[in-house]
Amino acid sequence: MRFLTEREIIVASHNAGKVAEINDLLGPYGLSARSAKDFNLPEPEETGTTFEENAFTKAHAAASATGLPALSDDSGLCVDALDGAPGVYTADWAEKEDGSGRDFDMAMRKVEDALQKKGAVHPEQRTGRFVAVLCLCWPDGHAEHFRGEIEGTLVWPPRGQLGFGYDPVFMPEGHDVTFGEMPASEKHGWEAGRGDLGLSHRARAFAKFATTCLEPGMKGGSA
Ligand code: IMP
Repeated sequence: MRFLTEREIIVASHNAGKVAEINDLLGPYGLSARSAKDFNLPEPEETGTTFEENAFTKAHAAASATGLPALSDDSGLCVDALDGAPGVYTADWAEKEDGSGRDFDMAMRKVEDALQKKGAVHPEQRTGRFVAVLCLCWPDGHAEHFRGEIEGTLVWPPRGQLGFGYDPVFMPEGHDVTFGEMPASEKHGWEAGRGDLGLSHRARAFAKFATTCLEPGMKGGSA
């Protein structure tokens, strides 16, 4: 395991929602990061079949291009009744057919249609999890991976305008609101009494990253 000693890192993502959440999580450690978009980096093709492979592809490309340590996030929604789909293809399910970008209302509807086709109408038939794998890669190619998961239930119709992506259809276990109805601090799991675990998949992966790679002197965050 290698400590992160550099103060400047790059978040290897073009996804504004992810970049905002990762910067929230880095903040308490005195770190802030510019994104791959700020450096005009191209988005590498994600050809892997695991979150770990795709996270490495993104972090390695950004670290090689900038000479800075790069932190990437590969994440997705895995629905049990759909044999783990959309999984690593979660972003692809949102691609518009005319290639003009992503539409998450459409993507959430696709997941719902697939669940309806399976006859999954009761909450216990609609279980799944968000998964996030963070990869920290240095310009010399050394990489560390951290995985976080949050179990939950898929609801319909979507609820809430907060967060991003599939947040409005995901109700994390132990809660009666969706991620789309939670302010960022609650989605991260920073409300009083939660301790260091975090709630969201990203916060949980981040907590492992912070414990492992951030030097003791840099600690002090509540993530
Ligand atoms: P990728 O990691 O760039 O392949 O894309 C991850 C996909 O999962 C995107 O479509 C995101 O919108 C979705 N996703 C990942 N994390 C979250 C989350 O915290 N909330 C909602 N959607 C998410």
